[in-house]
Amino acid sequence: MHCVRKVTEDLYWVGANDYRTELFENIHPIPEGVSYNSYLLLDEKTVLFDCVDWGVCRTFLENLEYVLKDRPLDYLLINHMEPDHAASIAEVLLRHPETTVISNEKAFLFMRQFGFDVEGRMDTVKEGDTRCFGKHTVTFLLAEMVHWPEAMVTFDTTNGVLFSADAFGSFGNLGGRLFDDEVDFDRDWIDNARRYFTNIVGKYGPFVQKLLAKAKTAPIKMFCPLHGPVWRTNLGYYIDKHDKWSRYIPEENGVMIVYASMYGNTESAAQALASRLCDKGITNVRVYDVSKTHASYLVAEAFKYSHIILASVTYNLNIYPVMEDFLHHLKVLNLSKRVFGIIENGSWAIKSGTLMEKYIDENLKDCRIINSRVTINSSGNRSNEIEMDELADAIVKSVEEEAKLLEAGEKAVAEAQAAAEQKAALKKMSAKERMALRMKQRQK
Ligand SMILES: Cc1cc2nc3c(=O)[nH]c(=O)nc-3n(C[C@H](O)[C@H](O)[C@H](O)COP(=O)(O)O)c2cc1C
Ligand SMILES: [Fe+2]
Ligand SMILES: [Fe+2]
Repeated sequence: MHCVRKVTEDLYWVGANDYRTELFENIHPIPEGVSYNSYLLLDEKTVLFDCVDWGVCRTFLENLEYVLKDRPLDYLLINHMEPDHAASIAEVLLRHPETTVISNEKAFLFMRQFGFDVEGRMDTVKEGDTRCFGKHTVTFLLAEMVHWPEAMVTFDTTNGVLFSADAFGSFGNLGGRLFDDEVDFDRDWIDNARRYFTNIVGKYGPFVQKLLAKAKTAPIKMFCPLHGPVWRTNLGYYIDKHDKWSRYIPEENGVMIVYASMYGNTESAAQALASRLCDKGITNVRVYDVSKTHASYLVAEAFKYSHIILASVTYNLNIYPVMEDFLHHLKVLNLSKRVFGIIENGSWAIKSGTLMEKYIDENLKDCRIINSRVTINSSGNRSNEIEMDELADAIVKSVEEEAKLLEAGEKAVAEAQAAAEQKAALKKMSAKERMALRMKQRQK
């Protein structure tokens, strides 16, 4: 049975929802599923934009054939070769021997590596090239490392649709609702979107920034990503989130406390700190057991909050392994610009605090560690109460300072962006127009 949505004139969503896969990329839990979006343009020529994961290929083919009716599939345009989208290319090409594949050189290399027979039916494009399908003309922007090196995005200059590949995607199934204005994104989707972005493309912030800068030059009306809702209403909200995530700027001034505890003593220290912070007026606090929470959730929270407090037992003269694994995730995903606090515990040779500090110093960029460590010898005692108060006070002070720094930093970034945009606008003007503008500014 077909399951399609009209996106805009001539354009149809022919993707599929996946409720069955437990782990995306066989690592990240997706209890709310994920969608693989594919889009079909019915112009003088027919064009399919990307495919889907093998697991939902049957639904996708039904959708494709339903919208195509008896028309040939003239083009298959591939923006991204990761198998969650590209696995079903071979099946589409087998069923449609008439189809020409449009993609870039690196993507064609990957197609050969994955064993897809595209010889004799390739149309290789570069950044800035255009292709016309009738009413619709598209152009291509390379999106290197968002999320693989061959990734590109395609902009339809006729209707302002950006086929954004993995950019602006999200975990979560669509369940019929396709557009950002059909869901309450900030309530129901943002956590999935953050967890998707930070874990999948978090490492490549500078590349995302490059793509955002390129996207600014195009009059985009709609994002059609390969996962999650299509954006046609509140694009600025989502661009702002991606801008922050990809610059590693926290979304919120708040405190994430992550603890590693076997018998509960370090856990009670983490809870004690959380209640002290709330008593002192910092209520934007979240507490997580590192052993119970999948690292992908912890990573997303680490990208969200400005302060991260690590509380860990010593385990065989090391950091508790699950805590070390969490830190490893932060390192490989490039998390930076955070303030850390440390609580350590041990019964005979307490090492975890020093080791966690060393890990942060050596692996996480532009991070600061609050100089009030709490050291617990098996279970919290009276002197720990004093240390804990000192740590809480230091966090409160730091949260206030970071709020001011963040505000000043964001203001500076906005001013620099405005200046750059003004400079670019001036460059486009004629000498006469520039002169008139200067006169007007002087008069003011
Ligand atoms: C397998 C294992 C290895 C441990 N290794 C160390 C260690 O190297 N140094 C140390 O001081 N304590 C070590 N401990 C002791 C715990 O760190 C200590 O008892 C701690 O207080 C437990 O805190 P919890 O109640 O939060 O689990 C180890 C405990 C276990 C079970
Ligand atoms: Fe991908
Ligand atoms: Fe993807």
